[in-house]
Parts: sequence; C-alpha cells; structure tokens
Amino acid sequence: MNNKIKKIILKKNKQKILCLTSYSKNITEILDRFVDIILVGDSLGSVLYNYNSTRKVSLRNMIEHSKSVRMGIKKSLMVVDMPFQTYRTKSEALFNAKKLIKLTKCDAVKLEGGKKIVNIVGYLIKNKIPVMGHIGILPQSVKGKFRFKGKNKSDKKKLINDAKLLEKKGVFSIVLECIESSTSKEITKNLKIPTIGIGSSSNCDGQVLVTDDMIGLNPNSFRFVKKYGNIKKNIENSVKKFRNDVLRKKFPSKKHSFVY
Ligand code: KIV
Repeated sequence: MNNKIKKIILKKNKQKILCLTSYSKNITEILDRFVDIILVGDSLGSVLYNYNSTRKVSLRNMIEHSKSVRMGIKKSLMVVDMPFQTYRTKSEALFNAKKLIKLTKCDAVKLEGGKKIVNIVGYLIKNKIPVMGHIGILPQSVKGKFRFKGKNKSDKKKLINDAKLLEKKGVFSIVLECIESSTSKEITKNLKIPTIGIGSSSNCDGQVLVTDDMIGLNPNSFRFVKKYGNIKKNIENSVKKFRNDVLRKKFPSKKHSFVY
C-alpha cells in the first residue's frame, strides 16, 4: 500500500483528515501545503463547465484537469473521480482506472456507489488500483433534487451495510455525502478505515468541500458549506483597479515597459 494512503488510514481516531477539491495547478499548490488529500472531483462539471449534472463529465475532462493538478502536488494524496459510465463493468472500470493513473499519475480513484458496485470496486483493488468509496448522495445517479440520506431506519441500515461492504472489498476510505448526523456517526464507528464527510456532520474522520464553494468563487450556497473567503470580491477589486489604471493611462508605466 502507498505510504500516503497508510498515513491517512493511521489518522483515524487520532487526527482529522483534510480534503479539498482542485481542478488546476495554481490552486493545488496552495492547497497542497494544508490538506492531506486533493480530490479532482467530477464536480468540475458544474463548477467549471456549467453542466447541470456530473453525468456530462468525460474521462477526457478528468484527465486534462488531473494533469494540471498533478503539477501542483508535492505531498498530498491525489484522488481522481471516475466519471459517469466509465465503470459499468469490471473490464471497463479497470481499463479506465489504469488509463487515469497512467496519464495523470494520481494515487487513487473514487467511485460512487455501495452494494451495486462492490464487485467492480473489489476487482480494481485486486488489480492494485487504490479506491476511495463514496456513498450517501451520489450526484452521478441523482435525477432532480438532492435529498439528504440516512434519515429513516431502512436507509440507515442500507448505508451502514454499503460502507461495510466497501470496506471489506478494500477501499482505503469512504466519502459520506449529505448523510444524517447519527447515521454518519454509526458508519464511522463501524469502520476501521476513515470516513470523509461532506454535509455529513462532524461525526466523520475527515471533511471535504468543493474549494470554489468554500472560498466564495462559486456563487451557489449550500447549507453544508461554510464560506471561508470571498475570492470573487478580491478578483473584482483587482480587475477594477486594472481597468481604472488602463483607462487613466497609469498602466503600463515606465516600470512595466521596455525602454531602450
Ligand atoms: O465531485 C466532487 O467534488 C466530490 C466531492 C463533493 C466529494 O465528489
């Protein structure tokens, strides 16, 4: 097992695990100093391409952004989402996961789903592909509104079972997306591997957010996102200053010109 993955598993019950998304090199370089895991999420479909669903994200999209992210990583574990319809069968999943790893040098891939995909997950792991699981809200499967999971007994039981099955197959960690707090607690308590929550309360071993949401670049707001910055305002201020300087002929000055 990759040393970075071992370190992450060892953090369970000791130290919270930090994960953020990135889709490009410059942002990655900043995140890499502060987090354990950088996720090239297929959320890039909605964040960057304005797709109304992550189902429209292609393997090519994931590969190109991951190549850029790879250049910015010195120490974090790099996980890449396998997009919709790239892991429908064992052979399709293995072919695409190998391609992702070969072309992007990522450390692991993430697949959405529980019981339905455990055999595919197990097959990847047998073939030495490190896998991160993802249960709860599965954006690649949702049609219509997202509703949080694990609120009734049968839902709770199903999620706990999904998590255990994934662990048994050998995933090194599981993302819990929008799962009711006591259910997240129960899942986390039942596993030896860490859970990484998004909208799933502090009862998880770690937390992940979409960076663009967290830094205030994405205008959308979700109940489970805390905005830690207003990067949009910062960019606006810089652009306004540039505009004024150019219009008033203050930029470029001699300092920014080549004078012979
Ligand atoms: O696509 C993504 O960014 C994700 C996170 C929200 C966990 O899967």
